[in-house]
Amino acid sequence: MRWPFARVAWVGVLCLAATHAAVAQSSGQEAFERHCALCHGLDGRGFGPLADAMKLTPTDLTRLAARNNGEFPANRVADVIRNGGNVLGHGSSAMLAWGTYFAEKGQPKVARERIADLVGYIKSLQQK
Ligand code: HEC
Repeated sequence: MRWPFARVAWVGVLCLAATHAAVAQSSGQEAFERHCALCHGLDGRGFGPLADAMKLTPTDLTRLAARNNGEFPANRVADVIRNGGNVLGHGSSAMLAWGTYFAEKGQPKVARERIADLVGYIKSLQQK
């Protein structure tokens, strides 16, 4: 029963995103949609198109604060983006080190800003 729901949600999210994109496009949101949504889903909840093909379920990024006593773990999120998922103790290469990727694409300073934008955007996705 997970599939039909995930599909419907995904279509809904795509429509929402399309309307949203026209209104407000933060650079954090743009980076998220480009680099993260395939696995984590456009809404960050972990239902991206690739999610079902993965061994590990992508984390629901909208509940990071809720799962951390209401406090958004900004440093941990930045670290996961910078160094990859291995900080979780899974030793996983399922999630690449995006910091390296961003740094290679531009300057380290740009990478830092990108990561800060992404962390800010993920923070804005938090649900109670
Ligand atoms: C190839 C699929 C994939 C992509 C692309 C991806 N992730 Fe992930 N992500 C995962 C998986 C799978 C996990 C769970 C890893 C684990 O449990 O070890 C994860 C975990 C995380 C976590 C850890 C949450 C926690 O529990 O602390 C964060 C934060 C995160 N991802 C952010 C991002 C961001 C930001 C991007 C884009 C820059 C991104 N991810 C791109 C698959 C992906």
